[in-house]
Amino acid sequence: MAESMRGLKRTCLCAELTTEHIGQTVTVMGWVQKSRNKGGIVFVDLRDRSGIIQLIFEESNIGSEGFEKAAKLRSEFVVAVTGEVTKRSGAVNENLATGEIEVVARDIRILSESETPPFPIEENSKTKDDLRLKYRYLDLRRPDLQRNLILRSKVAMEVREFLSEEGFLEIETPMLIKSTPEGARDYIVPSRVHPGSFYALPQSPQLLKQLLMCSGFDRYFQIARCFRDEDLRADRQPEFTQIDMELSFADMDDVIDVNERLLKKIFKLVDVDISLPIPRMSWQEAMDRFGSDRPDTRFGMELKDVTEIVKDCGFGVFTGAVENGGSVRGINAKGQGAMPRKKIDKLVDFAKDFGAKGLAYLCVNEDGTYKSSFAKFMTEEELSKLVAAMDGEPGDLLLFAADKNKVVWDVLGNLRLELARQMELLDKNVYNFLWVTDFPLLEYNEDLGRYQATHHPFTMPLEEDLPYLESEPGRVRSQAYDIVLNGTELGGGSIRIHQNDVQERIFKALGFAEEDAKEQFGFLLNAFQYGVPPHAGLAYGLDRVIMLMAKADSIREVIAFPKVKDASCLMTEAPSAVDAGQLAELGIEVTEQEENGQEEG
Ligand code: AMO
Ligand code: AMP
Repeated sequence: MAESMRGLKRTCLCAELTTEHIGQTVTVMGWVQKSRNKGGIVFVDLRDRSGIIQLIFEESNIGSEGFEKAAKLRSEFVVAVTGEVTKRSGAVNENLATGEIEVVARDIRILSESETPPFPIEENSKTKDDLRLKYRYLDLRRPDLQRNLILRSKVAMEVREFLSEEGFLEIETPMLIKSTPEGARDYIVPSRVHPGSFYALPQSPQLLKQLLMCSGFDRYFQIARCFRDEDLRADRQPEFTQIDMELSFADMDDVIDVNERLLKKIFKLVDVDISLPIPRMSWQEAMDRFGSDRPDTRFGMELKDVTEIVKDCGFGVFTGAVENGGSVRGINAKGQGAMPRKKIDKLVDFAKDFGAKGLAYLCVNEDGTYKSSFAKFMTEEELSKLVAAMDGEPGDLLLFAADKNKVVWDVLGNLRLELARQMELLDKNVYNFLWVTDFPLLEYNEDLGRYQATHHPFTMPLEEDLPYLESEPGRVRSQAYDIVLNGTELGGGSIRIHQNDVQERIFKALGFAEEDAKEQFGFLLNAFQYGVPPHAGLAYGLDRVIMLMAKADSIREVIAFPKVKDASCLMTEAPSAVDAGQLAELGIEVTEQEENGQEEG
């Protein structure tokens, strides 16, 4: 039976108590972590968001009624306890911040009882994810998740404080908007008042923040919820949060400067001291050296281009790729030369998952001979040149991919990461930041048969590349920049186009008919006719920032109520059917209802 807390005031949080409180009478309130009944004495660990304090119940101190209540406490009961802080009578618990003290209870109220929870509420839970997420409100009681969300709140506070000191205004932009192209599918919301018309939920506040610059707000920021209907991964959710900003009369160095100082400030919260300036690397260099536009620079194993060395060799796979305009590149997995054949085959399969037709390998044996899938096709001289180019030493495993550049980069970039995981080269305590700049403006999409914006269509090309916009669109680089941390893209942004003529040329390069562009972005193009400042901006994925600060493995661990792989919420069971009346009002008819059988993986 639940008691009232009337007349009682909590005096402090559990883990705020220290040896300095010895002798004081305190009232704590929280959840029973565990209770042990040792006959005449009951020990209870009481938990709240600050941590745990041990409570001692003895009939001589609390009376028989109180002792009876204490004796029936079970996990997750909510209680209020008043008592005296004392030095621990038993051994000090080194694992607890409050391990030197305990509270000798003089009064107890049971505020709420609890069923046995479906899983233990403890750090580093071994409980399966779907059970945790079904009972997320219990999962969130676990100290690691509490810490993550507390950190998230602190970071958001620091961001607001820092940016407002730097002259940024926090301005909200609408959630019901006209679709903004960011490359993902929109979530759409039907309009009741305009049957057959739909709003889109923002993929980002991109166009609206640009319009705020047109309106003269100079510097804007928002901690903005964004929605993208795309495949989920460990670092992707259908709704996520951006730290979004835009600056007028700013160039790339201005954006980078303010953001480096912002990053430095927030990472101090987890005792990471970022040394500034953060290194910068062009997209081209990132691809050539790491096979990725978000390189993890915590370890080497860089890609080497061996096209020149093998272009005339006897191995058809290599020469064929070169003849088709591709390249041959390799990585050197140092000391992995003794890798069993089966494990190498797994690497080959891994490479194939990323589009490789195969993966050529060469182990440099300790006696200087080779074990290789292709050595028989090459002369001794060709082989030794190749091994030398790869800095191959006895005991090394060399892996080569031959294909179009894009495939080779993707395969080796991912293989490099996979090997680093296997070789345990990824130290979570090292924080390597990197700016990647000069991205290609446009990417050719084979499926669509046309170019697409790499970042978004409002990104400014590099001025010196503008002349190639019509003749060689693939060659044009953009004034875009990403901030990368340990192989994760934390954020990205760009200098925006603020000239209508350039914007129109980009739309044309993207294959937009003039009317389509007007229909979709007419308001932006119109706004640009009334005096628009040069402007630039950037947005971070806040969830990713917190994930890396908290050393979590997934952004789910830093989001209170995340969704699972099929974009559903296991707790509320959203999305769900709505009643026919609601649909009728919207003028919507559901033609086909497929049972979504996708399992959470
Ligand atoms: P972009 O699309 O690169 O840029 O997004 C910015 C950052 O948002 C994070 N992010 C995500 N986080 C979790 N789940 C997702 N599904 C997801 N998608 C993106 C990433 C990414 O770096 N308007 C531009 C920014 C600008 O140009 O100012 C934009 O949205 O960390
Ligand atoms: P194959 O000629 O297809 O039997 O391949 C011979 C060897 O080359 C095998 O070890 C393949 O895995 C490897 N291989 C095939 N295609 C490629 C490629 N595009 N890049 C690198 N290695 C390849």
